[in-house]
Amino acid sequence: MIWQGKRFMTQPTKVTLTFDNGAPPIELPVMPSSIGPDVIDIRSLSQHGVLTYDPGFLSTASCSSRITYIDGDAGLLYYRGYPIEQLAEHSDFMEVSYLLLHGELPDAAQKAHFDKSVRTHAMLHDQVNTVFRGFRRDAHPMAVMIGVTGALSAFYHDSINVFDAESRELSAFRLIGKVPTIAAMSYKYNMGEPFVYPQYRMGYTENFLNMMFSSPCEPYEVNPVLARALDRILILHADHEQNASTSTVRLAGSSGANPFACIAAGMASLWGPLHGGANEAVLKMLAEIGDVSRIPEFIARAKDKSNPFRLMGFGHRVYKNMDPRAAVMRQTCHDVLNELDLNDDPMFRIALELERIALQDEYFIARKLYPNVDFYSGIVFRALGIPVSMFTAIFALARTVGWMAQWNEMLADAGHRIGRPRQQYTGDQRRDYVPVERRG
Ligand code: CMC
Repeated sequence: MIWQGKRFMTQPTKVTLTFDNGAPPIELPVMPSSIGPDVIDIRSLSQHGVLTYDPGFLSTASCSSRITYIDGDAGLLYYRGYPIEQLAEHSDFMEVSYLLLHGELPDAAQKAHFDKSVRTHAMLHDQVNTVFRGFRRDAHPMAVMIGVTGALSAFYHDSINVFDAESRELSAFRLIGKVPTIAAMSYKYNMGEPFVYPQYRMGYTENFLNMMFSSPCEPYEVNPVLARALDRILILHADHEQNASTSTVRLAGSSGANPFACIAAGMASLWGPLHGGANEAVLKMLAEIGDVSRIPEFIARAKDKSNPFRLMGFGHRVYKNMDPRAAVMRQTCHDVLNELDLNDDPMFRIALELERIALQDEYFIARKLYPNVDFYSGIVFRALGIPVSMFTAIFALARTVGWMAQWNEMLADAGHRIGRPRQQYTGDQRRDYVPVERRG
């Protein structure tokens, strides 16, 4: 247990809460974690008429989970115990999806079965096409994705028993298979181009690129280097423990709600600029900087407390060290720009120089501000030809796997209860109604 920044030699098994008003002390058990800080079990506090206050969940574990581990100080990210760097190098997104959902890497037969099941669930009910037509053509793809994913509840509601493991697995296949189709269709609809249907013979990432970029007018060849780069981006974004969107999915799902509705809720949360929208902001900032000679000016603005400007792509609530995803993404950036012969890409040069200068600057060192995953992902997306408005949509299709794994873990736990946060009430005390003619 980490306590006031120190690690105890002997782990405490309970803590005692004392009061300065003579009220009797309360003993609280300490629950051990497999790695990372142990947690104090405060569930019994409400029986004593005491609540805790932690609005941004800064010190509150909202659940127990076996899926993803982050150590922000050391810059570690593990999926089911496997370091993200190893998965990004050796695995692929479908295998990682299986791992997140099932807890173990699949054998060859399990992998083939999983892959096929996701592929063959990629098609949407034909009537979903008419749902798209209700949106304005210029709607943001995320707005369309949230609406259409939520609308799937109307197509698959009857077969959903969220308390049945097989039914949950079917929902996972449906969502993981169909969300890329919805994302690509949202883009095509926005562009005014015909929808491209999924191809069951293609792998997950290849198929997504094909649905995005092929058209009836000319053949589209998926470049395997670019498909691999996108696959790696999907691995890096697949899960990130109890962030805002994942917590939204868990809270929505805790009432037994339909999984399509829960995932639509997660997408809505992800769309917020403080969560899934930062890669777009990085790209805009690099374009604004325009030339390496202007970097010192932007660094000075970021350090100026009277200026609200922040260096986009730097800093993270949890990582107080290099975001491990950023290191992988930096390499992917090199691979993609090499493949496309874009090594002199001015934005990438600006990004590298900005990173170099910021990492030597006392302001950034003192505040532990390192590049985060979004610092590089925008550059890779742009090189892949993916429009800025689709950045968050791609994040959403990768994170659908993490959301489903977390949703499933919660519902598989026989002891799970509906999420119901409490509050500190600071409003008026009881008062009597006053008729309108006697007010004022
Ligand atoms: N540029 C300049 N100064 C910064 C930055 C930055 N990017 N980030 C934090 N600081 C300063 C901040 O001004 C504060 O300074 P001081 O102590 O002198 O007041 C100190 O660092 C601590 O900042 P904070 O706002 O208390 O940190 P936080 O944990 O609440 O915020 C953050 C984390 C990611 C919102 C923030 O670092 C930020 O705004 N970064 C830029 C946006 C960005 O890249 N977001 C992507 C996050 S990764 C995507 C995801 O996982 O969802």
